[in-house]
Amino acid sequence: MKAISLLGAAIAAMTAMPASAAENTFDINVKKTGATIQSTMYGIFFEDINYAADGGLYAELVKNRSFEFPNALQGWKVFGNVKVLDDGPFERNPHYVRLTDPGHAHKHTGLDNEGFFGMGIKRGEQYSFSVWARSETPVILRIELVNTASMGENHYVCQQRIAVNSSDWKKYKVTLRPNQTLEKANLRIFMETRGGASVDLEHISLFPTDTWKGREGGLRKDLAQALADLQPGIFRFPGGCIVEGTDLETRYNWKNTIGPVENRPLNENRWEYTFPHRFYPDYFQSYGLGFFEFFQLSEDIGAEPLPILSCGLACQFQNNDINAHVPVDQLDPYIQDALDLIEFANGPATSTWGKVRADMGHPEPFNLKYLGIGNEQWDSLYPERLEPFIKAIRKAYPNIKIVGSAGPNSEGEQFDYLWPEMKRLGADLVDEHFYRPYEWFLSQGTRYDNYDRKGPKVFAGEYACHASGKKWNHYYASLLEAAFMTDLERNADIVHMATYAPLFAHVEGWQWRPDLIWYDNLNSFRTVSWYVQQLYSKYKGQNVLTLTMNSKPVAGQDGQNGLFASAVREGNDIYIKVINTSQQGQDLSFNFIGLKKKEAVQGIKRIDLSSDKLYEDNSIEAPTNIVPVESLFDAEGKSISTSIEPLSFSIFILTVE
Ligand code: AHR
Repeated sequence: MKAISLLGAAIAAMTAMPASAAENTFDINVKKTGATIQSTMYGIFFEDINYAADGGLYAELVKNRSFEFPNALQGWKVFGNVKVLDDGPFERNPHYVRLTDPGHAHKHTGLDNEGFFGMGIKRGEQYSFSVWARSETPVILRIELVNTASMGENHYVCQQRIAVNSSDWKKYKVTLRPNQTLEKANLRIFMETRGGASVDLEHISLFPTDTWKGREGGLRKDLAQALADLQPGIFRFPGGCIVEGTDLETRYNWKNTIGPVENRPLNENRWEYTFPHRFYPDYFQSYGLGFFEFFQLSEDIGAEPLPILSCGLACQFQNNDINAHVPVDQLDPYIQDALDLIEFANGPATSTWGKVRADMGHPEPFNLKYLGIGNEQWDSLYPERLEPFIKAIRKAYPNIKIVGSAGPNSEGEQFDYLWPEMKRLGADLVDEHFYRPYEWFLSQGTRYDNYDRKGPKVFAGEYACHASGKKWNHYYASLLEAAFMTDLERNADIVHMATYAPLFAHVEGWQWRPDLIWYDNLNSFRTVSWYVQQLYSKYKGQNVLTLTMNSKPVAGQDGQNGLFASAVREGNDIYIKVINTSQQGQDLSFNFIGLKKKEAVQGIKRIDLSSDKLYEDNSIEAPTNIVPVESLFDAEGKSISTSIEPLSFSIFILTVE
């Protein structure tokens, strides 16, 4: 067994223990199965922050494809004679461009799109270009991908031509096949026809054809796969603060995110300006990834959908003017939005909103069971708005489980006020958020032990270890998340859902970190926290087993040598999770209680996540720098001895025979 030395003083102080490793005996009762672990226990929180949607999961490569950004040509470089007009074919996105021949043999007209930090394209793959166009006389457009870093022979990556041949708006499509792999290509549309010709272009789009599930205009495959591989039980969308909006006009309005993408109106993205030191003036929401796609993705990855809707309060962090919010007696349209959403998800294809879903290609219901109202709200402003929502939803849809909020903090005045309010209102689950430092995660091993078992269930809806001075993804933070999660698991009778946050981040466009999955335009990597989440999900089990050390839960308590542990059972299999937060390797002895005379426990395998690179994580360059390692666990008996590395997380997989 090794010891890790030379760690920061802070860690040493928090996890100090005697120099020699102690023998730690865990009593695990395999007979008495405890609480059922909900299928929703571990899941995903999605928010369009850090370019998670446009520029991320949504595989569209063109930025400002509909010319609806406040600066209509943002993201575009135009040349020659290009004009922006606003009487286009899509009512809610009326802008388009008119390209006219400049009237001189040496002058050209066209436009380039820069994509999101460039466009990632791969040699050998296919890209589907489309544009809505019209022209009075036939016009040839040359569509090309260009390598802006090379003005030599590598400049042209691929080219195709489109003949616009109708004076009515029509959609034209062509497939591009790049001859190079580039992280930062640009798209160029070049007007070839001369002689005073003119052509109108709208909704200019470019997608890889190899998307998640091969869907046209779909999701980036590697990122969607990283979600599926988490084996999530719940999928929360669309956030986060983005639900609320800085003002109500810019809140997330689900009805604007469905139907043909050409007519989904643009919305601002509050993460454009939330942190002035990480200001992204080109960050908007195209809503190409909207509620239909969120429901569909939930279905694809086997997770229950959990939409969160505005409760009629604008973001209270950004807008504490009382007039910014909907007065309680004017909430009806917001409540109707919630009722309509349930119909959109679950109603028959003959119902008003069910028909919209069916017309989008999903006649079967999405089987929505959970709905959140409000995100990080506080004060009496919140319960007084939540109450009429709850009454109306209960009346129309008594089986829908409603998620309320405990505000932005894991404790404190608002938390203490809101929890009893959620009980009074009969919320089914309460969403708690905690972005907290090392000390907090180390001290919360018994957080849920004393929660009222008769009240609402817990949804740990946003959490991550945010070390002060080290607010980035790193191994030690992930380890403490794993330690804390033993408490979630041990209290699975009351904790029904937990989702790490945020989920995605573009390496060039992040506003908030740590995050679970990072990417550039070509590659992505899964962080150590991702692996922690995946291990919990994969070895979730069906029932909690009692696991104690000296009759106490193993939760980093006094005399427990910095250990955290929990155990679950699935059929005859037992999964024991142990996190050693100390700098010393530890000997462990599992003492199985409740076995029949002829029964014994047999080791199958162990999975170890361990590293002495405490402040490192995986990266684009080294995506597997720190990953779990599986090995055989050769052990048998009513009692089994083993050991665990310093600062490590191990799962022992055993079976009762
Ligand atoms: O996850 C990032 C943000 O953190 C969420 O939008 C918000 O709910 C919380 O404050």
